[in-house]
Amino acid sequence: MKKIKIAPSILSANFAKMGEEIAEITKNGADVIHLDVMDGSFVKNISFGPKLIKESRPYSKAVFDAHLMIVNPWNYVPQFAAAGADIITVHYEACGDKLKETLKMIKDNGVKCGAVINPNTEVKEIENVIDDIDMLLLMSVYPGFGGQKFIPEVLPKIEQAAKLIEKTGKDIDLEIDGGITKENIKLVKDAGANVIVAGSTVFNEPDRAAIIKYLREV
Ligand code: DX5
Ligand code: ZN
Repeated sequence: MKKIKIAPSILSANFAKMGEEIAEITKNGADVIHLDVMDGSFVKNISFGPKLIKESRPYSKAVFDAHLMIVNPWNYVPQFAAAGADIITVHYEACGDKLKETLKMIKDNGVKCGAVINPNTEVKEIENVIDDIDMLLLMSVYPGFGGQKFIPEVLPKIEQAAKLIEKTGKDIDLEIDGGITKENIKLVKDAGANVIVAGSTVFNEPDRAAIIKYLREV
């Protein structure tokens, strides 16, 4: 069994006090801080860029996981690496046939790399990069906004991805992102996901230590 890591998405945090929010969720047990970067072009929302990540970095020793929902991500990889991201994930849908070289570029910038696929993209599309990545991220909502409803059709894809990862014999994380709640957490874990993104579920809960513990242990 791979280690379960809980990754609160700061998209649902209070942006006016981001440093404190990140420090608080770290103290309350977050393993990973999930950073949703949106450009208003790849997705219909705008969130934040490398400056927020750089200035938040001193508030936490947890893993900074930058999920880039932007067009031409290769243009910004060096900036996100320099800002303090520990891992940068890029969408297959944004990279197309440049996915492999973008992943290599991330590695060359000294950070871990991951590939992301949308709910309607098949796992087979990233098979050719499975040996290049540290993490595979499966979207369980269409990216753009927090607080959306989990798409259950993604469950068989989690199982499929877990099998693909197992075949490599490598220590590759399998992350699930979108609509994770107390109700469906067990389903995604049983299917094989070990890095659990949760935005609204964590930040809407007054007792963050309790919700993070629940998500980890249930
Ligand atoms: C969606 C983002 C997710 C999202 C998660 O575009 O990638 O990380 O904010 O939020 P919840 O957990 O509220 O669905
Ligand atoms: Zn995300």
